[in-house]
Amino acid sequence: MSFQIVGTGRANPALVLTNEMVSKLVDTNDEWIVTRTGINTRYVSTDETLLDLSVEAANNALNKAGIEGKDLDLIICSTLEGDYITPSLSCLVQREIGAVCPAVDINAACSGFIYGLDMADAYITSDKAETILLIGAEMMTRHLDWKDRSTCVLFGDGAGAVVLKKGNGLKSIKITAKGDDKLLVIGNVFCSSPFSNQPQTDPHFRMNGGEVFKFAVGSALRDVKEVMKKAGVTVSDVKMLIPHQANLRVSQFVKEKMGFSDEQLASAIDHYGNTSSASIPLLLDELVEEGKLSSGDIIVLTAFGGGLTTGACVIEL
Ligand code: UT7
Repeated sequence: MSFQIVGTGRANPALVLTNEMVSKLVDTNDEWIVTRTGINTRYVSTDETLLDLSVEAANNALNKAGIEGKDLDLIICSTLEGDYITPSLSCLVQREIGAVCPAVDINAACSGFIYGLDMADAYITSDKAETILLIGAEMMTRHLDWKDRSTCVLFGDGAGAVVLKKGNGLKSIKITAKGDDKLLVIGNVFCSSPFSNQPQTDPHFRMNGGEVFKFAVGSALRDVKEVMKKAGVTVSDVKMLIPHQANLRVSQFVKEKMGFSDEQLASAIDHYGNTSSASIPLLLDELVEEGKLSSGDIIVLTAFGGGLTTGACVIEL
């Protein structure tokens, strides 16, 4: 027995940045961004902290699940980085929602939400936890070079959360890693030390978009096939394919190669952009809220990103 998703939630900053607004900062245009990525607008944080977004998403998910913070056995936050290096984002969420359980952040970049599901599965199947809060929370816009048109048009900020309880929802799951610091990198900023001979790294998001695109389509297709086979489900059993929202063309490639219909492909990149590990739980909560998904539906999740990491799973809601 593994987990069942019993509640979903999300939170976005107030500011909506349109392609028109981005084109005032760099040499780009709405037509290029829409046709190459599928993005129209994205949410960008101004006064909101990552903790604010995480707590709002967490409370939404807890309310829908009918569970209080004090009932949680574990909090996992998937994030590239919280507002501080320490305390972790998850520890501060724990304080804000009245939980008393252990709390830990994980960083598997855009695949982090599926890594979090895998970790939750391990805790629940080993009887170390029965009720887990998993949050995907990212503030990508803090890492962008707003002079680099090849990357600054792509990303947005947000947080999505799920509450997981012991149950039979998870049908199969897979995560992978292949160490690489050439294709997708965000450098770290360290304080200067009189003893260090190491140069500062570039703190901006840098990506070889074409190579990451090839990695994304290849790995997503491989992972989706594998988890569906392991779960014993076919395309017609699946209500929706929910890919990490990096590029509409990546999602459509996987949809077409697998033989899913247009209706089976979930997408929200038009209004979120790429929110890294927040993208799947943000979209999941929207689909549940809009009544497009309900109890008993089978969904396939797939993600890929920095690390390089990938993950995929099949879940019955
Ligand atoms: O979430 C983590 C995983 N990330 C991904 O999976 C992202 C995967 N990669 C991609 O989504 C795409 O590679 C991008 C959207 C990043 C780029 O799209 P592309 O079709 O691969 O474009 P490109 O980088 O090959 O650039 C094509 C042209 C270039 O001009 P030239 O050299 O052909 O004259 C770029 O300079 O488009 C130009 N370009 C732009 N033009 C207008 C690049 N960015 C822009 C821009 N506006 N924002």
